[in-house]
Amino acid sequence: MLVSKVEATSEVKANVTSNSHTPKTVKVETVALAKYTTLGVGGPAELWHVESLEDLQAATSEAYRVMGAGSNLLIDDAGVPERVIRLGKSFNSSHEFDGRTELWLGAATPVPGLVRRAAELGLTGLECMLGIPAVLGGAIAMNAGTRHGEIGDVLEAVELFVNGELQIVEPEALKLRYRHSELPKGAIITRAKLKLKKDSPEAIAERLEAVDAARKGQPKVKSAGCAFKNPEGDSAGRLIDAAGLKGYRVGGAMVSIEHGNFIVNLGDATAEDVKHLLREIRKKIEIPLDVEWECWGIEDFNNSSQNNALSQLEDDL
Ligand code: FAD
Ligand code: EPU
Repeated sequence: MLVSKVEATSEVKANVTSNSHTPKTVKVETVALAKYTTLGVGGPAELWHVESLEDLQAATSEAYRVMGAGSNLLIDDAGVPERVIRLGKSFNSSHEFDGRTELWLGAATPVPGLVRRAAELGLTGLECMLGIPAVLGGAIAMNAGTRHGEIGDVLEAVELFVNGELQIVEPEALKLRYRHSELPKGAIITRAKLKLKKDSPEAIAERLEAVDAARKGQPKVKSAGCAFKNPEGDSAGRLIDAAGLKGYRVGGAMVSIEHGNFIVNLGDATAEDVKHLLREIRKKIEIPLDVEWECWGIEDFNNSSQNNALSQLEDDL
């Protein structure tokens, strides 16, 4: 449900009609996106580093995608034709995270720092996010989490940039479920309000240990986390392991020896290698496995429109 529309500042309004105008704070570069993903794969695109709403107005004047920390992305070797928007440090409010139980944080705030700081401040609710290398916006878009909980559990409200305007919505409007959200088409999460609770440092430390223990079997090398979603009542990693696929390799991409649901980049993997490996794994597992990653410029492995951050402008081009 839409809670409210946030009035844009006059500065932002001034630029709504001036799409060709690029504000001074926007940094635009054409780069191989591999550099910005944890898997280390992906070809070129125009990367727009934005610092303000005015920047967002300019950046969204043509077809775009939005990137968080790049930890759940498989991007084609040919890159993507759309602009790729990254929220810069002015959307990172790590420094504003104090002892309050309810607070707004920018979408570029790194999740690992939030988990650490919450524990220091005696705030509970984020322990389940330990070890997830996301920023807040990406964590909400994927409803990231572990068996111990997910980001949706502590969300109070979300601010979205949609069609050139800011809106505040209740989390229910995003229909969050296991590794899934339904953002309005083209929506960019700019901020989120979290609701945490006070607890003793001992109780928090105990929960963090449990989450950490559950991650012990995961590889520490380049990956994008689990490649497949878990099928109902089972684990994709267990199925891949039981099929004898650990160590199975295509070019520079390999099924991790440590955890069957991680595909690791041995150093020189291409998107082509990774795609090939995904297809081979699926062929060898009887249960249909949905790919967890957001795939950019690549066939839709799940045959559904999961790339919900594509611009509404795309239809018009
Ligand atoms: P990206 O990968 O950059 O983007 C993911 C999606 O979110 C894209 O569709 C993108 O368009 C969209 N998006 C990003 N920012 C915004 C925004 N501001 N507004 C709108 N849409 C946006 N995931 C888990 O759930 N649990 C785990 O335990 C876990 N462990 C991991 C461990 C490792 C070592 C790695 C590499 C990954 C792991 N992941 C895990 C996967 C990943 O960290 C999560 O899916 C995370 O939520 C992705 O966030 P991100 O900021 O990196 O987003
Ligand atoms: N297993 C195997 N072999 C393997 C991997 C797992 O037999 O190679 C077995 C384990 O022994 C265990 C079961 O499968 O009995 C489940 O394994 P695990 O506890 O590692 O959990 P998972 O289901 O593989 C999920 C999430 C992870 C999250 C962990 C910890 C998914 C797809 N994966 O993994 O999330 O970190 O639980 O909570 O939901 C991610 O989403 O990217 C991710 C890493």
